[in-house]
Amino acid sequence: ASARRPLIAGNWKLNPATAPEALALLKLVVANQRALESSGRTAELPDVAIFPPFPFLQLAVDAVAGTGIKVGAQNVGLEGKGAFTGEVSASMVRSLGCQLVLLGHSERRLLYGEDDEMIRRKVRLALDGGLDVVLCVGETEAEYEMGLLPAVCALQLKKALHGLQPADLERISIAYEPVWAIGTGRTATPAQAQDAHAIIRSVIAELFEHEPARAVRIAYGGSVTPESIDDLMRMPDVDGALVGGASLIADKFSRIVEFA
Ligand code: G3P
Repeated sequence: ASARRPLIAGNWKLNPATAPEALALLKLVVANQRALESSGRTAELPDVAIFPPFPFLQLAVDAVAGTGIKVGAQNVGLEGKGAFTGEVSASMVRSLGCQLVLLGHSERRLLYGEDDEMIRRKVRLALDGGLDVVLCVGETEAEYEMGLLPAVCALQLKKALHGLQPADLERISIAYEPVWAIGTGRTATPAQAQDAHAIIRSVIAELFEHEPARAVRIAYGGSVTPESIDDLMRMPDVDGALVGGASLIADKFSRIVEFA
């Protein structure tokens, strides 16, 4: 889509059910990635990341060794260490060999009550803990219909990125995920995605400087398939995809990586 190196990331969400199934999926994903990398087109390939559930992170880090795939967590808690039963910290995730964390996903916002202030704190903790961030923003269907896409995305970005320096932006990618497109099969049209991504880039230019806004990657998420990726990637401000359902089928994920 531009001089920016695209990012294709798979968000496994709460899947698969067991470690043996996760290992089987990892083996297929890694085999496909090796095939793409050995095709001599490495320079054309996007950055690839997967976000498995916490219990499978070590399996994933071990499985992807020697490939370009990066592994990230789908969340981290709000604390560094101490008496916080059931929590997971950025440094724990980092120490496994993970490089990324997904923050601000609409499922965290809507189902688990994460607000912009919590997301802002998590972004800071993640960066301090050595993890790069994929920050999700996006409006609900009702907000979209009321014409609130620009206002909602701008507010989510302003709050989550508050207090950061332009240099921090080098470690952050944005994922635009309209809630109405997630898991619904209703992929945003390339034009809809482009409009939203251009708005997001202009908000970042307002918050930081021109250069971080030009450099930041903005991936699209919401029912991305091998069939839809090509047209999405033709848009000048679409720099990749955050893939849910299709990332659980290794061949589909690999075709998305290949098309990007
Ligand atoms: O984070 C990825 C996501 O929310 C999109 O999911 O299943 O619509 O590709 P899906």
